[in-house]
Amino acid sequence: MKVAVITGATSGMGRRMAIELNDQIPNIQEFWLFGRRMDRLSELERILSKPCRLFAEDLLTDDFLANYEKTLSKERPEIVFLVNAAGFGKIGAIKALTLEDQLGMVDLNVRVLTGICRLSLPYMAAHSRIINFASAAAFLAQPSFAVYAASKSYVLSFSRSLNEELLGTDCFATAVCPGPVKTEFFDIAETTGKIPFYKYLFMADPEKVCHKALVDSITKNDMSVYGTGMKVFMIFAKLMPTKLIFLMMRCLNFFGKPNNT
Ligand SMILES: NC(=O)c1ccc[n+]([C@@H]2O[C@H](COP(=O)([O-])OP(=O)(O)OC[C@H]3O[C@@H](n4cnc5c(N)ncnc54)[C@H](OP(=O)(O)O)[C@@H]3O)[C@@H](O)[C@H]2O)c1
Repeated sequence: MKVAVITGATSGMGRRMAIELNDQIPNIQEFWLFGRRMDRLSELERILSKPCRLFAEDLLTDDFLANYEKTLSKERPEIVFLVNAAGFGKIGAIKALTLEDQLGMVDLNVRVLTGICRLSLPYMAAHSRIINFASAAAFLAQPSFAVYAASKSYVLSFSRSLNEELLGTDCFATAVCPGPVKTEFFDIAETTGKIPFYKYLFMADPEKVCHKALVDSITKNDMSVYGTGMKVFMIFAKLMPTKLIFLMMRCLNFFGKPNNT
């Protein structure tokens, strides 16, 4: 059975990736959709034209990875696409955010993504693809978004190394690195702090970001960066010393007032 495994399928870019794959990749025979909200998974199932298995699970529960491993060994799927889109971020200073939120970001964005990739690898089919959602936050350390940015740097670094290790196997990994995208992400991110004004300038459409991600994955680009603004940002972050960027951002009040309470 040729399967597409998608986490974060209940909203935003995970949901959109499912629709893109459904419309563009006819050889997928079944979708495995993960997310906590069952009603959203059922709604997506009605839209997709292929059979779906719905996993309404919290990926942060202790036994999630063990259960996923059991499902894989029982079903022995041929995974043609693995999309790791589950993730969240919280805006706020390190001292201001709760430990639970900070460790939750590390757990979901880093530990669970690594676990799903590792456990899925033996089941990846010939010509298969892994699409890991990193972020443009991976390009630069971000005060008041520190843990999130660090977790996404991990995803980018991990995906690129994985890709190199996969050379010659016909499986390819792409790290998707968008700037701000119009999804429910900021509803969650903003419960602790305010989204910096400049992010609104670059807010992208999830359909376009996901369409590019799929094209980049098929054409074997190890990174997918949507939009000129984010490409310029990537080069800027690579060439300029971080201290200098921080100084410039402080002068322009990009970080707002420090919130350490
Ligand atoms: N939007 C942006 O500006 C942006 C920019 C760059 C990168 N990204 C990254 O892109 C990916 C997709 O984000 P998005 O914008 O589509 O955000 P979103 O609309 O908030 O979607 C996040 C998804 O993650 C799932 N999720 C969160 N916690 C979970 C948990 N404990 N267990 C299971 N599933 C969980 C959510 O499902 P349930 O709530 O139903 O569990 C939801 O489907 C994330 O990795 C994000 O970091 C987003």
